[in-house]
Amino acid sequence: MRVLSGIQPTGNLHLGNYLGAIRNWVRMQDEMDSQSQCFFFLADMHSITVHEGREQRIRNVRDMAAALVAAGIDPDRSVLFNQARVPAHAELCWLLNGTARIGWLNRMTQFKDKVGKDREGASIGLFVYPVLQAADILVYNATHVPVGEDQKQHLELARDIATKFNTDFGVELFTLPDPIIPKESARIMSLRDGTAKMSKSDPSDMSRINLTDDDDAIMQKVKKAKTDPEPLPDNAEGLAGRPEANNLLGIYATLSGMSVDAVCAEFAGKGFGAFKPALGELLVETLRPIRSRFMELRTDDAALDAILEKGAAKASAAAEPTLRAAYDAMGLMR
Ligand code: TYM
Repeated sequence: MRVLSGIQPTGNLHLGNYLGAIRNWVRMQDEMDSQSQCFFFLADMHSITVHEGREQRIRNVRDMAAALVAAGIDPDRSVLFNQARVPAHAELCWLLNGTARIGWLNRMTQFKDKVGKDREGASIGLFVYPVLQAADILVYNATHVPVGEDQKQHLELARDIATKFNTDFGVELFTLPDPIIPKESARIMSLRDGTAKMSKSDPSDMSRINLTDDDDAIMQKVKKAKTDPEPLPDNAEGLAGRPEANNLLGIYATLSGMSVDAVCAEFAGKGFGAFKPALGELLVETLRPIRSRFMELRTDDAALDAILEKGAAKASAAAEPTLRAAYDAMGLMR
């Protein structure tokens, strides 16, 4: 088993990233046997699709590395690195650009959501983004890719690219990766709008809970979270058509390890005035230890850089044979 996943180092780690993906990364790392390997990386090459100044980008990469270690990624057991330090990703991306079809990329919903109406003004990088993501995965022959629901389509594209490359060049080079998507928390929604995903790019900071938020900020954000006036139902079916309630009860269920039905049973007939402080407490208890480790780790840039450099050396060694075989399959002499 080869586990691989990535996160863009733009802005802070938020609750959606943590519950949708990072918790699963840590679980898979902790359950890994001696035959398996985990690769986790900061997708800084993807982050060029968002404009950022040099200093900010450098800070963001180190902060996201600190956040992942604080959340439980152990750089001695998992290979932790940033993409820019492993050129094999960008090289394989270019090779796969010969295989990926414009029609496939045109169907990517994330691209459509991100560009909105200004398609002509979007960068080429944003359009080709999913091909680099396919390269990230295929260059390690990853078998399992733990992600949130929003990455499912990109994973399907990676499988399509792998299949076409293998067929076109008559090789069995690339392994088809399987997405690992959590059942309960695959899509954490905004606290301001239960129909929009919680995201780093939402202009309202009240829409998300960040790893850097202190206890008071967390309690405030939960208190101000949008809800409806109805009391809580006695089972999960009663949440239909109530996106905000569904989201908040889902977060409670995930954090407490209870089923959504059990959470409903506990709060049945009560209003959000009773439920929100309980949810706030649960969030504070979960995030406080991660935040305090994060604050400590982010003060030592040299230690973070050393982790990423060491990880990149291991990642490059793992990626090299596949990259070489891809050049060879295509008849590109080096
Ligand atoms: P990114 O940085 O947007 O998000 C990192 C991970 O967090 C998950 N996630 C969520 N899960 C549940 N609810 C949410 N509201 C939520 N928001 C984010 C994402 O699904 C993701 O798993 N393209 C990727 C990064 C990437 C990658 C890869 C991932 C680059 N190459 C190769 C896997 C394999 C991205 O932008 O994730």
